[in-house]
Amino acid sequence: MKVTSAEFIKSAFEKRHWTTDGRPEIAFLGRSNVGKSSLINSLLVRKGLARTSNTPGRTQSINFFLINDGFYFADLPGYGYAKVSKTMRSDWGKMAEEYLAERDELALCVQLVDSRHKPTPLDIQLNEWLNHNNKPHLIVATKADKISNNELRKSIAEAEKLLPGAKILAYSAQTGRGRDQVWTEILLTMNNS
Ligand code: GTP
Ligand code: MG
Repeated sequence: MKVTSAEFIKSAFEKRHWTTDGRPEIAFLGRSNVGKSSLINSLLVRKGLARTSNTPGRTQSINFFLINDGFYFADLPGYGYAKVSKTMRSDWGKMAEEYLAERDELALCVQLVDSRHKPTPLDIQLNEWLNHNNKPHLIVATKADKISNNELRKSIAEAEKLLPGAKILAYSAQTGRGRDQVWTEILLTMNNS
């Protein structure tokens, strides 16, 4: 996929700030620190476009990026970070649920899980919700460069059992591994929607 333009459009803290031009959208979802912003930067080959950090729970808004003037990437806040306050946690739930349930432009949900760990109960819950609500979705196992290929195979097999119903692809934002496969899936669903 040739990315000719990629621009940060806005951070939305409420529904009325979502973009309104009707272009299709790909959403990136997953627990805090799993690598959502890094995946976006890696897919777009733009280093600092989506802000990454070592402080989990930083991104509290939905961040919109316009790609090739044709579609959006939406970087959602991470879930499951224990140290944020209860109010912040329930705000995440409200914002994400409202977005997932109501966003008509949503062409594909990319759910990220950490390839080094077993999917968490919240990962399982999100996958079940996406299946139940018939949302087209793809699972990306991030940070694949941090484990051996053998461990990666085991981890993907385990994730396939706990997260049924979606294709799972391994990714490394460090090496670019998985980039072509993830783009193929994104373009396929956009052509079908
Ligand atoms: P929040 O916005 O806080 O929810 O986090 P996020 O999911 O956007 O994670 P982010 O992309 O900020 O990455 C978190 C940390 O993991 C950063 O230190 C990244 O450099 C690192 N990281 C992300 N992806 C990879 C990867 O594929 N390989 C390696 N080695 N590190 C990664
Ligand atoms: Mg982020």
